[in-house]
Amino acid sequence: MDALRIQGGVRLAGTLAVDGSKNASLPAMAAAILSSGTVRLRDVPPLSDISNMQRLLGELGCDVQLDGRDLTMQTTDASCCHARYDIVRTMRASICVLGPLLAARGHARVSMPGGCAIGDRPVDLHLRGLEALGATIELDGGDIIARADRLRGTTIFLGGPFGSTVLGTANVMSAAALAEGTTIIESAACEPEVACVADLINAMGGDIRGAGGPRIEIHGVKQLGDADWTIIPDRIVAGTLAMAAAMTNGDVTLTNFPHDHLLAVLDRLAITGTQVQRLDPSQPADRCDVHVTSDRRLKPVLFTTQPYPGYPTDLQAQLMALLCLAQGNSIVTERIYPDRFLHVSELTRMGASLIRTGPTVVVQGGGDLIGAPVMAGDLRGSAALILAGMAAQGETIVHRVYHLDRGYVQLEAQLNALGAGIERFDAP
Ligand code: EPU
Repeated sequence: MDALRIQGGVRLAGTLAVDGSKNASLPAMAAAILSSGTVRLRDVPPLSDISNMQRLLGELGCDVQLDGRDLTMQTTDASCCHARYDIVRTMRASICVLGPLLAARGHARVSMPGGCAIGDRPVDLHLRGLEALGATIELDGGDIIARADRLRGTTIFLGGPFGSTVLGTANVMSAAALAEGTTIIESAACEPEVACVADLINAMGGDIRGAGGPRIEIHGVKQLGDADWTIIPDRIVAGTLAMAAAMTNGDVTLTNFPHDHLLAVLDRLAITGTQVQRLDPSQPADRCDVHVTSDRRLKPVLFTTQPYPGYPTDLQAQLMALLCLAQGNSIVTERIYPDRFLHVSELTRMGASLIRTGPTVVVQGGGDLIGAPVMAGDLRGSAALILAGMAAQGETIVHRVYHLDRGYVQLEAQLNALGAGIERFDAP
């Protein structure tokens, strides 16, 4: 099984481009099921989750061609509507095909995703939204079975106990794009990945307004056609790289950086003493070049994860790793997945002083991190351990990096291009 060996104490320097977003690509690929034509997506990151979605779409009768980072998709056989457990259990985002299959083919059978390392992750809001559009939904043998002759537009409230749902909004919005009449989604997720999917559907000929805000208005159309769309930069990868630069007291330029999708993160980073400066004001604020530097002594900060535009849960572990180096106490509160703390015990093995009570962790900064063998338990926690390893004294081994490979394109090679000393090897 692959592991990473990290030599700590190196300052990162140089220039790196941020990859396209995994979490926008996955629902965008699923939305291609809605089209009767050819859909081309550009800058799709080559990751295992993307290959899994490619395999799933293949089983669902979509011909998917990959040319570098561009994907071309076209439905050639609409008879199979079954997303099998074998694929869904490897990737929860398979649930994204539910709405598009139902809307385009009138029938979907999608294995119910289970919980995962970061929590229970129910899909009740996806199902309630689709039922509101007129689908009948039942569970059989662990599969969700959804049927509808033609979906009908209506007003749907999609808020849940932890706020809005990102993939639930994408699912219901995608289904409503082919429904009869107008659908309003209230308490929609405002994440840029939802807006990216809406923009893609509009490029196919859809009529979706307000995506990226809490109220989305979808005017259903009878058919959707060809589209050619570029995926937005990955704000979580961008934030991770900026924090890597800060934690190594580096001097790094990041291109294709989604500055305005990261305002809550940049706000917290500024308090720690990390400067992220736009280099060219004429570039679009969601895709620009930035220069990242940091003070030698980082300062503590309080933060709470929230739905967008708040601080993202997918950057909680990485900022916690950074705060282990800060001079003073920080408080981290996780409001999206209250148990997303697998990295806490591993950071503690590296000498971090962390006290967890429920969804809150107090980080007693100021001490040094010391290299150690650690175990990655989930995707973002793996990234946090790598950042900690680069800032630590001595050698760190991060085991089980298959989690990391789901969301970062060869992160060690990207960091090595900036001067890091990270080696991948096959650990027994
Ligand atoms: N929730 C419900 N009911 C639902 C759906 C969600 O109660 O039907 C709850 C969840 O349990 C959670 C909260 O609502 O507490 C938010 O979940 P959401 O549905 O927004 O998560 P998701 O759409 O399944 C996406 C990302 C996650 C990211 C979350 C939150 C993808 C493929 N996944 O998941 O990304 O953490 O939004 O921003 O887009 C990651 O990339 O590491 C990752 C986990």
